Amino acid sequence: MAHDQAHAQAPAPAVGRPRPAAATRVRRASVLDSARVCAHVFAPMIAQGVVLRRPRLLGLAARRDSARRANALLADLRRTYGAGPLAVSVFGRLVVLPLCAADARAVLGRTPDPFTPANREKRAALDHFEPHALLVTPGPERPGRRRFNEAVLGTPHGAHHLAGTFLDVVREEIATMSSQLAADSVLEWPTFHAAFSRIVRRIVLGDGAAGDRALTKQLDALRADANWAFAHRRRTGIHDRFTARLRTHLDRAEPGCLAAVVAHTDHDDDTDPAGQVPHWLFAYDAAAIAAFNTLTLLAAHPEAAAQAREDLIHRDPADPHVLATAQHLRACVQESLRLWPTTLVILRDAERADQLAPDGAAVAVISSFFHRDRETLDFADRFAPAAWLDGRADPARGIVPFSAGPAACPGRNLVLFTVTAVVDAVLRETAALRPTGRTVLDRDRSLPHTLDHTATRLLAPPAG
Ligand code: HEM
Repeated sequence: MAHDQAHAQAPAPAVGRPRPAAATRVRRASVLDSARVCAHVFAPMIAQGVVLRRPRLLGLAARRDSARRANALLADLRRTYGAGPLAVSVFGRLVVLPLCAADARAVLGRTPDPFTPANREKRAALDHFEPHALLVTPGPERPGRRRFNEAVLGTPHGAHHLAGTFLDVVREEIATMSSQLAADSVLEWPTFHAAFSRIVRRIVLGDGAAGDRALTKQLDALRADANWAFAHRRRTGIHDRFTARLRTHLDRAEPGCLAAVVAHTDHDDDTDPAGQVPHWLFAYDAAAIAAFNTLTLLAAHPEAAAQAREDLIHRDPADPHVLATAQHLRACVQESLRLWPTTLVILRDAERADQLAPDGAAVAVISSFFHRDRETLDFADRFAPAAWLDGRADPARGIVPFSAGPAACPGRNLVLFTVTAVVDAVLRETAALRPTGRTVLDRDRSLPHTLDHTATRLLAPPAG
């Protein structure tokens, strides 16, 4: 691969504290280039909200297409320094950026040792609302929490054992949402998000939580604090109220939802089952964005929407296993996550010196850079769901919307099932989907790298 060749030619001076020169492949960026990375990669990411999006700043980022600028800068740095890992100083912290897919995968593959997912900045952020979540769990507690998450979320299964109930929930909520659209049939983010949030509360906590918007509001307040990481004090009052409210839903362990599975799943003493749930509620919010972006893509690509509609005529609407194998629709969902990954950066800390990073450095995998890499992907900036079916959207090429390796997302299949079910239900409820207002994705031009889902408006006239 061109990148690897470029890297092989590059000399590799050591970074950080003195270590054997042969051990490291990391190069150090100039002060100016570090400043450019801060300004164009990390500042816009932090501004739009890593844990909870700030709509106004997301809108600004979309108007400037800040992710395109970030990705262009990273490509430029790769040309300058070669494709090996590049160390930059970000607000005083040493951060290593993998610049080729093989290194990104190596970092994710060698998790948690030496690259722990319990990275310092991530912990500072997530401590605001999920201090015991698997995502930020270091050391010996990790395997038990991982096993527990996998067991409850049904990680290996295309359809969770409760998928039939989840499908009913999705259909009901989307039908209600569709019937309540105004006469102009315009579907906007707040309406869609409200329906999706009810779906999430019902799937995770049961029907008794369907209308508990206060719980979601409390979590959102804590997520807003988490955007500031170290820079915001922890609010124990609201955290305690959120935890108590969550606990009442979990204690009900209503049949047919994840809370019931939690209640019946074995766990180690230090797993803290209830402490895993805030992450599920938080992470499911990203699934809402993925679903809305998929609808936006289908609205802009009528032939893909037509194929999806054609497929669903032949599917048994009540069979969750059939939906789990709805290849084209599932590929459209995955493609929306390739084009606009909802996890803006995957962070690790190097716990010992390694050829990919010096001891103590943070490692930042910017997945959007690999997902839109025009040097390796001929479909980088177009909607190409077929790439998920013919093997071109390969993790080996750095396409990792759900991460990869031992700490990859254990909710991946559950998310793909839920989002596919939601998109399928919207297609069933509507006669057509068309962009309206300022929502324009020009299929003949390179798709934007930053999309403001909160500003999307879709025309969704009712079916029949
Ligand atoms: C569009 C939706 C989602 C996407 C794109 C996504 C993606 C990811 C990514 C990239 C990671 C790795 C993060 C890191 O290492 O810093 C991750 C981890 C994780 N995700 Fe998801 N996720 C989604 C939704 C969910 C949902 C709904 C759940 C649970 C119901 C979930 C459960 C988890 C857990 C428990 C981890 C931590 C895994 C570990 O550290 O071993 N995710 N996810």
